[in-house]
Amino acid sequence: MKVLIADKFEKAGLEKLQAMGCQVTLDADLSGESLRGAVADSECEALVVRSTKVTPDIIDAAKNLELIIRAGAGYDTIDTAAAKAKDIRVCNCPGKNSVAVAELVMGLVLALDRRIVDNTADLRNGVWNKKGYSKARGLKGRTLGIVGLGRIGYEVAKRAAAFDMHLIYSDVVDQTAYEKELGIKKVSFEQVLAEADFITLHVPGGAGTKHLIGGEQLEIMKPTAFVINCSRGGVIDQQALAKAIEAGKLGGAGLDVYEIEPLATDKEFKDPVANVAGVYGTHHIGASTEQAQLAVADEVVRIIDTKMKGSAPPNCVNM
Ligand code: MLT
Repeated sequence: MKVLIADKFEKAGLEKLQAMGCQVTLDADLSGESLRGAVADSECEALVVRSTKVTPDIIDAAKNLELIIRAGAGYDTIDTAAAKAKDIRVCNCPGKNSVAVAELVMGLVLALDRRIVDNTADLRNGVWNKKGYSKARGLKGRTLGIVGLGRIGYEVAKRAAAFDMHLIYSDVVDQTAYEKELGIKKVSFEQVLAEADFITLHVPGGAGTKHLIGGEQLEIMKPTAFVINCSRGGVIDQQALAKAIEAGKLGGAGLDVYEIEPLATDKEFKDPVANVAGVYGTHHIGASTEQAQLAVADEVVRIIDTKMKGSAPPNCVNM
C-alpha cells in the first residue's frame, strides 16, 4: 500500500509500515497546496495526518485514496463529509493519548493552584516573593467538574481522585457505569459551572460545542474557579474568558488549545490570550508524550494492516 504521512510520525511506526511492505513517504512540512500536490502526485492509498488539515480540495485531488487516518483522537481537521462523498474512510486513534492529556490537565490544575509558572518567572527575574505565593487553596476536598466523561475525562477523574478531590461531571452520553469506580457524581452542566473549583473540558470540537463556555457560562462560575481546556480551542469564547479573568470574575485558566492555532510548521503565536495574567498556556501538547505517540503510531499501523488484509479498517468515523 502507498502511504503518505504528512506530519511527524514515530520512527517505530514507520519501520513497522515498511516491514509490512508499504511504500511510505513522510513529509512533515506538507500542508495546503503542497499537500494537495503530494496527494495527487504520490497516488497514495492512505494518508496519515496529525495537525495537518485535510480540506475538500485535497480530497478532490486524490486519485487512489481509500483511507485518511488521523493520528490522534479528534478529527475536526479533516473534512469527513468530502471524504465520504468520494468513498474514502476516515479513521482515528481514540483512547491512545488519553492518559497523556489527563496528565497535562493535572499538571495545569497543580500549576494554577500553586501559581507555579509565575513563581518561576519571578525567580528568573530575581524576585523573591514567598508571601505573595503562599496563598494556594490546595486540592484536597476541592471540587473538580469534568464536562465530558469520555476516555480522557475518565483518566482525569482517576488521577484527581488520588488528590482527594471531590468529583462531579456532566455528559450528554450515559456514563453511569463509571460512577461507582471513580466516586464521581453526575450533575447538570450548569451545576458543574456553579459548584466546581476546577472545570475541565473534554468534549469534541466543532459546531456542536462552539463557545460552550461563553460570557453567560463564565458568569455562573465561582470567582475563584479555574477553567482548563485541553480539548479544542473553539469550545471556549477566548475573548469572554479574558474579560472574565481581567474583571476578577474567574481565578484563571489553563489552555492547551486556542480558537486559532498556528500550523505545526509555524514559529509564531500572537494570540493576546497568552498574555492575560492568570492564563497558563501550553502549545497543544496534551497528546505529545513519547508513550502516547508510540501508542498512536501502533494504532495507525493496526488500521493500515487491517485494511491491507482486506477487512474494514477499525475506528471509521465517516461511514
Ligand atoms: C487529539 O485529537 O488526539 C490531539 O489533539 C492530538 C494531537 O495533539 O495531535
